Amino acid sequence: LKKGGLVIFPTETVYGLGGDATNWSAIKKIYEIKKRPLDNPIICHFKNIEAIEENFILNDIAYKLANKFWPGPLTLILEKKKLSNICPNLSNQKNYVGCRIPSNSIAQELLWNIDFPIAAPSANISTKLSSTKVNHLSKKLKKEIFVLNGGRSLYGLESTIINVNNKNPKILRLGSITQEQLNELIPDIVFENNRRFSTSSPGQQKKHYAPNLPIRINVNEVLDGEALLNFGKSKLKSNTIELNLSSKGDLEEAAKNLYDYLHKLDNSKCTGIAVAPIPNHNLGKTINDRLTRASAN
Ligand code: TXA
Ligand code: MG
Repeated sequence: LKKGGLVIFPTETVYGLGGDATNWSAIKKIYEIKKRPLDNPIICHFKNIEAIEENFILNDIAYKLANKFWPGPLTLILEKKKLSNICPNLSNQKNYVGCRIPSNSIAQELLWNIDFPIAAPSANISTKLSSTKVNHLSKKLKKEIFVLNGGRSLYGLESTIINVNNKNPKILRLGSITQEQLNELIPDIVFENNRRFSTSSPGQQKKHYAPNLPIRINVNEVLDGEALLNFGKSKLKSNTIELNLSSKGDLEEAAKNLYDYLHKLDNSKCTGIAVAPIPNHNLGKTINDRLTRASAN
């Protein structure tokens, strides 16, 4: 990392593909290997809040959220200070940067052993499935990038992204922290799930988090040849392969299994993936957000 190379490392949400956030040549490599458009900004990972305060302005709402959820799966969009040496190209020349403090112990140890923040998107090729285990990484990433194996991700869904810079804070991406959890702290926080606004978080484009096989969601029947991604005690049946996100209907367990099972079914001999209905509350809302994008044409 110190020499401008990249490292794939575990976080509590998904694996990250990291480089020195102050080094344009490192950031450029991330964009290139991910095939990510340069206007799609990258989140910066910091060891602690002091390291963020050196570079960014935090208002009252930011501190309120930070005190409750950092270290952890929260990303805040913060305004850069003038003296910050964070590379302007990782946020498309804009002064607003996504910042987070991961709680994963390997990520923490890594950050405490360098004196710059790590810029890291999820460790996958653009629009493809995120990685929650090292064996989910594409051949190309595994071959070209040094990997720190931290086992299976604790939460299995990306961080929740919040824009705190307007009078009314907005959730830009649902993630491992739910809207219900946020509402306890900020009753009027809303999820900006509106395509008109989608450029405010470019990775929120319609097609994203997608397997290679076609995927149908919220199904009430499984077609011949389709794999089934089941949930709870539904009576759905597949004549090829079936995995249950959580047979006891636990949304946290389902969140943790989601990408792993999608990767598994994507690599199985079936014609497509049919997904059982998932209750649309708490983590179910995040799961449904990812499944909706995964199934978009
Ligand atoms: O859990 C996570 O957030 C993981 C781990 C590795 O930290 N990272 C992650 O990064 O999911 P990525 O790049 O795959 O997704 C970040 C999303 C993208 O949709 C991007 O457009 C949006 O956050 N984003 C990043 N910086 C932003 C900014 N300054 N303003 C608005 N949206 C931003
Ligand atoms: Mg991603």
